[in-house]
Amino acid sequence: MAYETIIVENSDGIALITLNRPDALNALNSQLLGELADAVEEADRSDKIRCIVLTGSEKAFAAGADIKEMADKSFVEMYRSNFFGAESDRFLRVRKPIIAAVAGYALGGGCELAMMCDFIIAADTAKFGQPEINLGVIAGIGGTQRMTRFVGKSKSMDMHLTGRFMNAEEAESCGLVSRVVPAKKLRDEAMSAAGKIAEKSLLATMAVKDTVNRAYETTLAEGINYERRMFQSLFATEDQAEGMASYIDKREPQFRDK
Ligand code: CAA
Repeated sequence: MAYETIIVENSDGIALITLNRPDALNALNSQLLGELADAVEEADRSDKIRCIVLTGSEKAFAAGADIKEMADKSFVEMYRSNFFGAESDRFLRVRKPIIAAVAGYALGGGCELAMMCDFIIAADTAKFGQPEINLGVIAGIGGTQRMTRFVGKSKSMDMHLTGRFMNAEEAESCGLVSRVVPAKKLRDEAMSAAGKIAEKSLLATMAVKDTVNRAYETTLAEGINYERRMFQSLFATEDQAEGMASYIDKREPQFRDK
């Protein structure tokens, strides 16, 4: 598919999606979010793709929702179009793992998009923030909810109320990102992590995504019960037999996603 606001490159089981509105620091407009939803759905359907990496430029992962697109909208327009609701719901339905590789600004909707991925690898140049308060609004793609669950109430309130930015070191120390790497190595590190994921059984990696995300939607007892059933169900797969046999035989597993 031909896209105008993103670049998609597929290799070795990985779909690398690069946000590409350099003149607007990758601000998220309806076209970009629509194309992104199309691209991740295409990767999710593909038999060849096993992991997705989402990244931006050196200067910005994404500097937020496109303020110029939103500025003149009325409540009725926002509500009737369910602004960004449909696109983000499509993104969240993707079942394969998605890694966010973030350098530079990840602000507002950009920070929220990174948090909608399964984990975030940050360059040491990354800056996260929810500055919507400076525009007289609040986060609108899950920021108040996801950030609060990821970093706790106090820091989330601080970020949303003051609109300040958090650097990569702070983001790692509070658990927003999984690791910080030198900016020059960001793409390689993210692709290497994706490559490791792509080597596993897709059935198991999809089960991890489904089950970890369940932790945010249910009680501890229900989540543990769900995990137990998912764990047990993987014993219906050939990949479980292959994975355990390969360990016992001291050889690399040959997963076939069956
Ligand atoms: N929307 C539209 N355009 C944006 C943008 C955004 N969110 N962020 C940057 N741009 C544009 C700028 O307008 C500028 O374009 P022009 O050259 O045509 O003026 C271009 O990108 C480069 O930006 P700057 O010149 O401002 O670059 P800078 O290095 O001086 O500053 C910045 C970088 C601090 C990120 C600054 O651009 C900025 O503050 N951006 C807005 C951040 C923001 O408020 N994000 C939240 C948006 S609201 C939201 O996201 C709601 C939601 O949750 C759904």
